[in-house]
Amino acid sequence: MEGVTATASPDIPMHPAIAPISYLLGTWKGQGEGGFPTINSFSYVEHLNFSHSGKPFIAYTQKTWKLNSGEPMHAESGFWRPKPDGSIEVVISQSTGLVEVQKGTYDAEEKVIKLQSELVGNASKVREITRVFKLVDEELSYEVQMATNLTSLQPHLKASLKRI
Ligand code: HEM
Repeated sequence: MEGVTATASPDIPMHPAIAPISYLLGTWKGQGEGGFPTINSFSYVEHLNFSHSGKPFIAYTQKTWKLNSGEPMHAESGFWRPKPDGSIEVVISQSTGLVEVQKGTYDAEEKVIKLQSELVGNASKVREITRVFKLVDEELSYEVQMATNLTSLQPHLKASLKRI
């Protein structure tokens, strides 16, 4: 818990609702790989930040850059709302204009969060998005899959990050 209090709003008591996923709080930095059957694969650097304000949600921001050139790539932000029954609701707005309402489950013991899009809005191609986040040995990793109008659900992103 030391890391949590040191990196996330130390003066504001955490709302008990976010305790099961409070291991996310803080800033994470790492690298990812992207691909899809219809595009060339690519590598990226990523920063994630999860913070709280004493309310029953965690605020999330993500930024990415091309690994070799440092050129900015995708960015997104949103809110994570865990519920006492083990379900979780996440809303995300992407720099491309796409918005997601994700629903799923969290496992506080295993530190795994699984999300499945309930709504993908303002998207020309994307029909469905799944996201899985895991914390293993202090390393936060995730996988994002998507389905488009032409392609069934396939991996698009995979990354692993360490707390900074
Ligand atoms: C859930 C999040 C994301 C969604 C829904 C998404 C969606 C898409 C879609 C629909 C395409 C076009 C696929 C096609 O033409 O068949 C695409 C391509 C691409 N995406 Fe993503 N993306 C996401 C996150 C990211 C992130 C985080 C990055 C960078 C770190 C990224 C980088 C790219 C790149 C480089 C391409 C290829 C562009 C091109 O070749 O024209 N995407 N993405």
